Amino acid sequence: MTDVESDAASIVDRRGIYYQAFDIYNSIGGFYDYGDIGLRIKRNIENAWRNVFVDGLSAFEIETTIVMPEIVFKASGHLSTFTDPIIKCATCNTPYRADKLLEEYYEKKGDRDDMARIRKMSKKEMEDNINENRIKCARCGGKLTGVEDFNLMLKTHVGHKSDDVAYLRPETAQGIFVDFKNLFRIYGMKLPTVISQAGKVYRNEISPRQQLVRLREITQMETELFFDPDAKLENVGTVNMAAVLESKVNFHGSGEKNEHLATISQLLDEGKLPNKYFAMLIYLESKLMEKIGISQDRYKFREIEKEELPHYSLGNVDLEIRTGYGYIEVAGNAYRTDYDLSQHAKTSGSDISVVNDGRKVVPHVVEASVGEDRLVLALLDSNVQNGEDRGWKWLKLNENVAPYRFAVFPLQKDQELVEKARSIHKMLVEKRVSSYYSESGSIGKRYARADEIGVPFAITCDFDTLKDDTVTIRDRDTTKQIRKQIGEIL
Ligand code: GLY
Repeated sequence: MTDVESDAASIVDRRGIYYQAFDIYNSIGGFYDYGDIGLRIKRNIENAWRNVFVDGLSAFEIETTIVMPEIVFKASGHLSTFTDPIIKCATCNTPYRADKLLEEYYEKKGDRDDMARIRKMSKKEMEDNINENRIKCARCGGKLTGVEDFNLMLKTHVGHKSDDVAYLRPETAQGIFVDFKNLFRIYGMKLPTVISQAGKVYRNEISPRQQLVRLREITQMETELFFDPDAKLENVGTVNMAAVLESKVNFHGSGEKNEHLATISQLLDEGKLPNKYFAMLIYLESKLMEKIGISQDRYKFREIEKEELPHYSLGNVDLEIRTGYGYIEVAGNAYRTDYDLSQHAKTSGSDISVVNDGRKVVPHVVEASVGEDRLVLALLDSNVQNGEDRGWKWLKLNENVAPYRFAVFPLQKDQELVEKARSIHKMLVEKRVSSYYSESGSIGKRYARADEIGVPFAITCDFDTLKDDTVTIRDRDTTKQIRKQIGEIL
C-alpha cells in the first residue's frame, strides 16, 4: 500500500464499488472487478460519453473483436514500438517501469521540473539517473540495471497451429481502421465522418498500481473522426464550430510551468492544437466533464512533448484530472494523420482510399481516446464530500451518473408501510427510473447509506402516506425533506 490513495478510497472499499480481481488467490495484479454500484456508475459514464461523442457527432458506433491477428499490429506499428522502458533488479529480478520509478522519486522530492525532463530521457539517461540517485529495488534493496524496451501487448495463439499468433488489442481504434473502408461503403458515408467504439483493451503493464490508474485490462471509449485535410472545414453532427472556438479550457502548454484559461480559438492561433477537428474533440471532452459533473478547476488539457508522442501521432493533448494520486491522464487526443489507414493499405494490399469532392483521398484522423476506468476513479475523487457536518463521507454525484436516482424506504418495518414503499419502487422500476428499496436498519442509517453512494433522492413512506398518498422526498445535498403526492414524484 502506498502512502497516497484515491480520495474516495474508504467508500470504494466499504461499498465494493471496485476491488482487486482474483483476491482470494492473491494472484496477478492490474485487474479490477466492479461491484453493482461501480458498474452502474461506469455504465452511466459510458452513456454520457455516448450522448456527447456518439450522438453529438452523429457517429457510427461499432463493436469489433478483442483478439486480433499479428498482421494488424505489424501494420499499425504496435509490434515494434508499443513499449515501456523496463529496468530489473540485478539480485531478485523484480521488474520496474523506469520512467515511473523516476517520476515517483522526483514527485516525492517535489521537483516538477525534473518530472518534465524524465519525459524526454533516453533509456541510457534513465538508467544513469536511477543509479546517480541511488534508487534501489523496493523489494530487496538490490541494484537496478539495464533499461530495455518492453512490448506491452498480450500475446495468444489461435487454433491448433502454434504459428497463428494473435494479440489482445491494446486499443479499440485498430478495429475501426481495419473496418473503415467496408463501413464507409456499407453506410454510404461522406467525409468528415466519425466512427466510435467502447470496449476492453489489454496492456501488459510492467508494474500495475494505484487501483484503476495502472491496469492491465482497461475499458476505452474511442472516437475516430475521419476528414479530408484538403477540403473546407465542416460542422460535424450537432457540433457547431463557432461554439467550439469561443469555449474556454484550462490548458498546460508544452514547456510552460502552469496551466492557464484560454479560448480554443486562441490555442489554435498559437499552434497548440493541430487543427479544428482536433479542437472539436477537446471541446467535447469539456462537455463530457460538465455532463458527468467534474468541475473545470479539477482538470486541464496538457500538450504532450514531441519526445513523448505515440508513434502514429503528429500532435497529442491529454486530458488530466486531479485525484488523490495527483493529476492522472484520463484521455489522450491524437492527430493520427493518415498513418493507420495508409499502413493497413500497404500491409494488406487493399485500396483504403475514398472519393471526396471528386478526388481520391486517404482520410486523416483525429482521435479522442477516453479511459473509462480512470474516469470512474476521477469522478469519485472529484465528488466525494467529507461530510463532517453529517458524520459520514458521501458522493455528490449528479443525476446523469448516480447509481440510482431514488432510494425508497418504509419509515419502519410495518406491514402496510412496507407494502406501500414496495409498490412505489415497483412503479419506478416499471417506468425505467432507477431505484432501490431498503427496509433494513434505522431510517438515519438508510439515509447515510444512500448518501454514501450518491443517490440524489430518498423517498420515505410514513403513516401519513397511508392516509393521503403523500411521501417525503429527502434531497441528498441539502438533507431537506419535502412532502409530495406519489403521483408527483417524477
Ligand atoms: N488509441 C489510443 C490509445 O489507446 O492510447
